[in-house]
Amino acid sequence: MIRVEDLEKVYDSGDRALDGVSMEVGGNEIVAIIGPSGAGKSTFIRCINRLTEPTGGSVWLDETEVTALGGSELKQARRDMGLIHQEFNLIERLTVMENVLSGRLGYMSAWRAFRRDFDAEDISRAREVLDRVGLGGHENNRADELSGGQRQRVGIARAVIQRPKILLVDEPTSALDPETSIEVMDLLTEIAREDDIPVLINIHEVDLAVEYADRIVGLSDGRVVFEGTPEELDEQAKDTIYRGGESREERDAAAEARDANAGGSDDRDDGLPEDVTQRTAREG
Ligand SMILES: Nc1ncnc2c1ncn2[C@@H]1O[C@H](COP(=O)(O)OP(=O)(O)OP(=O)(O)O)[C@@H](O)[C@H]1O
Ligand SMILES: [Mg+2]
Repeated sequence: MIRVEDLEKVYDSGDRALDGVSMEVGGNEIVAIIGPSGAGKSTFIRCINRLTEPTGGSVWLDETEVTALGGSELKQARRDMGLIHQEFNLIERLTVMENVLSGRLGYMSAWRAFRRDFDAEDISRAREVLDRVGLGGHENNRADELSGGQRQRVGIARAVIQRPKILLVDEPTSALDPETSIEVMDLLTEIAREDDIPVLINIHEVDLAVEYADRIVGLSDGRVVFEGTPEELDEQAKDTIYRGGESREERDAAAEARDANAGGSDDRDDGLPEDVTQRTAREG
């Protein structure tokens, strides 16, 4: 189980990406985090495993306070939290098998990891996991030969081979077509149920969240503004979540404009970047 208490992240730029987020995810539930671009969804997932260092609050994995760990203990905790990325994050020139085995690197000595000296048990487990995600027979394909859906399956296999206690998933379908998105969501659901682990998943397609999640959390401006079942996510709730996508200044300005009944001017220059989504560099 993951428990997050009052998590806060203020970037060096002064951007307050998380402003006191608390939640619990356990059992084999699928929790979808929805919210507009810039709401803090990716920051939230990355702060849970501390790829991004939170500036306040705490994260617990079962009885372990992840935010208090360092060194090898943190490394161990990270292995317990399988991370699945939006852009797959595969090593392009390596094979499917090598990419999946790279999920095992955290368990090996530095020297063995450097030599990619995997043992027979790892290899047979990788085959099992690849069969499970529907990639049996593709072990020796290079990652850059695969379709988007197949690449995401490699990403899932690489996370699952660690036998994680939770899956953290950041926008797994945003680079995929609708049909492939459904296959990937089905696969994640199957893993949650079969392995009996929770899945915390950032997703911006509200329809997919409603269809697959047991619970939905709406994030806006770094705060939880909705939490409920898919049935409870009505138009008003969506409005609250997505209207929060405007900056506070924009909302205040809009309210002021309404109050003054000014109308007329659509000019807006808030100086904010349009898209600050971070792309992870690929090894090529
Ligand atoms: N590395 C960074 N340095 C500074 N600010 C950042 C960084 N990463 C994100 N931010 C800021 O933090 C806020 C939340 O960004 P984040 O990427 O977590 O949002 P998101 O909900 O995942 O958005 P998207 O739907 O576009 O992926 C944004 O205002 C963004 O500008
Ligand atoms: Mg994001």
